Amino acid sequence: MERTFLMVKPDAVRRGLIGSIIARFEAKGFKMVAGKLMQISDELVKKHYYEHEGRPYYQDLTTFMTSGPVFAMVWEGEDVIKLSRFMMGSTDPEKAAPGTIRGDYATRMNRNVIHGSDSPENAEREIHLFFDEREFVINK
Ligand code: TYD
Ligand code: MG
Repeated sequence: MERTFLMVKPDAVRRGLIGSIIARFEAKGFKMVAGKLMQISDELVKKHYYEHEGRPYYQDLTTFMTSGPVFAMVWEGEDVIKLSRFMMGSTDPEKAAPGTIRGDYATRMNRNVIHGSDSPENAEREIHLFFDEREFVINK
């Protein structure tokens, strides 16, 4: 069964949106197999967003991501990587369709509520960056 890494970003935690976001993935039929409220360190955010280093938005992104707690999760299900990205909507909330998470809850690219892995390779890498094996449950 495929797994992906999803994270409710600090803006959404602050706004009390953890429950609403989780509810959407539950309703879709996916299973959460690990989850925790946590503060990201500078070291961890650099590893997580290493592909973006040097981009004009990088400093703002890393400062934002460490500005408050996030809710980090691993979700399991058929095609969960691709389908959860559909459910999130475009990176830029101005282009995200209504009905998607970013379309419904966000207005700005740099405060876009949720992260989701974009490929099997990144899912694997990100899951192991944030979780170790003992943190997973068997979710039947
Ligand atoms: P990216 O991986 O391209 O988007 P996604 O989160 O949809 O996988 O970018 C990572 C984050 O960087 C994105 O969620 C918000 C931030 N970002 C900006 O603030 N400005 C930008 O122009 C881009 C491309 C991303
Ligand atoms: Mg990305």
